[in-house]
Amino acid sequence: MSASSGPAATTQPAERQQWSGQIGFIISAIGSAVGLGNIWRFPGVAYENGGGAFMIPYLIALLTAGIPILLLDYAIGHRFRGSAPLAFRRLKKWLESLGWFQVMICVFIAIYYAVILAWAASFFVFSFGQKWGDDPSSFFYGDYLHLADTAGFSSDYISGIVIPLAAIWVLTIAVLALGVAKGLEKANIIFIPLLVVAFGALVVRAVTLEGAADGLNALFTPDWSKITDASVWIAAYSQIFFSLSIAFGIMVTYSSYRRRRSNQTTPGLVVGFANSSFELLAGIGVFSILGFMAHEQGIAVSELSGLKGTSLAFITFPKAISQMPSAAWLFGALFFASLFLAGFTSLISIVEVVSAGFQDKFGWSYRKAAVSIGVVLGIISVALFSSATGLYTLDVMDNWANNFCVVLSAIVMSIAVVWVLRRGRELAFHLSSLSTFKVKTTWLALIGVVAPVMLLYMFVQTVYSLVTEGYDPAYDAWFEGLFGWGTVVACVVGAAVMTALRWKHDPDRFEPWPPYAAPPARLTAGK
Ligand code: ALA
Repeated sequence: MSASSGPAATTQPAERQQWSGQIGFIISAIGSAVGLGNIWRFPGVAYENGGGAFMIPYLIALLTAGIPILLLDYAIGHRFRGSAPLAFRRLKKWLESLGWFQVMICVFIAIYYAVILAWAASFFVFSFGQKWGDDPSSFFYGDYLHLADTAGFSSDYISGIVIPLAAIWVLTIAVLALGVAKGLEKANIIFIPLLVVAFGALVVRAVTLEGAADGLNALFTPDWSKITDASVWIAAYSQIFFSLSIAFGIMVTYSSYRRRRSNQTTPGLVVGFANSSFELLAGIGVFSILGFMAHEQGIAVSELSGLKGTSLAFITFPKAISQMPSAAWLFGALFFASLFLAGFTSLISIVEVVSAGFQDKFGWSYRKAAVSIGVVLGIISVALFSSATGLYTLDVMDNWANNFCVVLSAIVMSIAVVWVLRRGRELAFHLSSLSTFKVKTTWLALIGVVAPVMLLYMFVQTVYSLVTEGYDPAYDAWFEGLFGWGTVVACVVGAAVMTALRWKHDPDRFEPWPPYAAPPARLTAGK
């Protein structure tokens, strides 16, 4: 008997943990979706890709791939009641490796995602007194990150990053060690309302600043010429995937903690639209502030630099904060607190994917998994990202994990379910029989045709450009090879090794959760 094919023991696994109810699940799923992607990534991506015109590809991406694949994740997690490896294995034995591939993606995302939270925590403190002074750019790259001139390895560890980063890992372990209802759900129930209040206050102040209207015009005035540009569509689809936390195990894991009789589709719509609304709100807040900044400097918004990601949050924003007419410290504190809260509720969901995979495979308790996984990931995270070259490593790893691994995972998942295993109708039935909003042929067409075609196109474009041109000429080929392609190789090898290991409890002794009635036999025939 091969190690992975059969049961190793006859003992029963501990009963699966559960959310306290529907609201707990929905808030936690929104907490996972709303993250750095919304505040840190979306405004710049939208602006760069046509402003108002970007909203069309964005909405199409949300409706044709985002929500349909979110529902596919829900269906698999709920029907097969497991972490990604267990749920996929129960769907079909050989799909276990896809589950581990998703766990590995979460390993990589978690270790760098936590670092951005550490920066946000530091900048929250720096906001009181605007420690960045007159030159936020040299403060961020020089005084704070001690950024090396070239990418590579450095032994220059920065205590200002090590300390908050270690604290974030301790907090993550503490939340996960309390379990699903008392840890994850409670954290979300406390942090998400705080986020809404903090970010809401920030946006209200932002739109009343002088020049805010210019910022909003810059964001929303459509540049229709962009809509025929393939890269704009690719940007829209990848923004939706990262932002909704789909195809990397999170929603499979979260929905595996739901009760037997849970409405599936309505929460999917709520989470999808809540996430996009928050994204839009972030765009409005950020661009109002940029409009104000441009107004103060007497230039157009388009002449401002640093409108994306890291430089937007940690250089451009601090500059804007310093220019506030009053209570600059409060404005800064609200922004960095929002970034931290949004990111933390996503980080715990990412680490939970890894923890749940180990609990299911090795029969570990959730405490043991939280501590073991959290300590190991925390050490790697500190070792790789709190030195003077951490920013470069983060940039490269983020690109490959998101644009390569997550997209590949979504393609394999949808093609395997719909075309290879032909289990799409069974899952559509599962979703619909529990929900008021039914899904059927349109959903199948979206997950089986529209999404994979679009994703395959994106994937081929991305791989072609990475192979022929590399990612960024500023990096040496060995560096992109090690931290970019190396991330892909590590995900594949890690998935293969984990799949080959023995299960503590027989994963196959299980009945799929039928909803109110068992699906018609023809839907489950030929498994
Ligand atoms: N969905 C999370 C984010 O947007 C990962 O940051």
